[in-house]
Amino acid sequence: MVSENYRLGDHVEREFAFLEAETQQLALAMLGQKIYGTDERILRLAKNLQQSDFVVQAAERVERCDPLVIRWDDWLELVVQECLLPFDEVTYWHSIRMNKVIVWIRQLVNKYGLGIIPDLGFVESRYFSETFQLTEKDWQHLEWATKFHDICKMCLDQTFWNYPGRYNRQQRSQLEIHARMFYYLGELFHVDSEVIALAVLHHKPFPRTGYPADSLIDCVMHYYTNPKFRIKLGMLILLDRYEAWTSDRSFKKDVSDPTAISKVSKDQSAGNIVQSLSSVLDRVKEEFFPGDSVLCAVN
Ligand SMILES: [Fe+2]
Ligand SMILES: [Fe+2]
Repeated sequence: MVSENYRLGDHVEREFAFLEAETQQLALAMLGQKIYGTDERILRLAKNLQQSDFVVQAAERVERCDPLVIRWDDWLELVVQECLLPFDEVTYWHSIRMNKVIVWIRQLVNKYGLGIIPDLGFVESRYFSETFQLTEKDWQHLEWATKFHDICKMCLDQTFWNYPGRYNRQQRSQLEIHARMFYYLGELFHVDSEVIALAVLHHKPFPRTGYPADSLIDCVMHYYTNPKFRIKLGMLILLDRYEAWTSDRSFKKDVSDPTAISKVSKDQSAGNIVQSLSSVLDRVKEEFFPGDSVLCAVN
């Protein structure tokens, strides 16, 4: 379904053989060519991506070393609408709601300045220059990351996500695969490398201590040394947790905004940066939804 709504963008020709082995396997699996030894999660992701004939055309192009022609965010938008939505409506709305909230935070920051985010999530923020700001590009990256970070949930079976109860430790580590799997999907669609890093790290604010040795994490870790990146990652994780608390899931009922905000702000595993950023949600609520119990009901 190519239409005039899609913007021309990526005319870069890439050598298929130079892509990561897993990215090649993903593309080939989307084309119905099973390569011996391909991880079953890659096969499951490919199967879900096959729901869209147009998305499959992207794999054909990549395999032929042809440019993708339209912008990567338009490709991923197609994946969201034609593959993720039929796969899991809950995840689809989760991403849309997070995306709405980041747009509101952006409006607040534009109106009042970065002062609405106390200490920017860092105690050492006093060392930042007065000219420190989040640029148009930074906000755009956050908007993309909120919309696309969970696409690779399609690499695990629907029954895993609908598990009735709390995940145990083993299930939780299995769950985190979907974040890392974005690395290959991102490479396939030639996604901006910072957006890939945000999605890959969205389940761990402290990858140094939380992740097992993992070459994918090493590939994106250089971003982590940039304070601006850590603010963006903190914001993404904050919204992810907040949205999860305020929505109905298979294993729990939703909670109100104030409860969710206070839970996120006390969540030790979320890390200091996420806790410190949590007050920004109070400001969004104050500004856009005074008196409402739910901040982001969009569906
Ligand atoms: Fe996730
Ligand atoms: Fe998420």
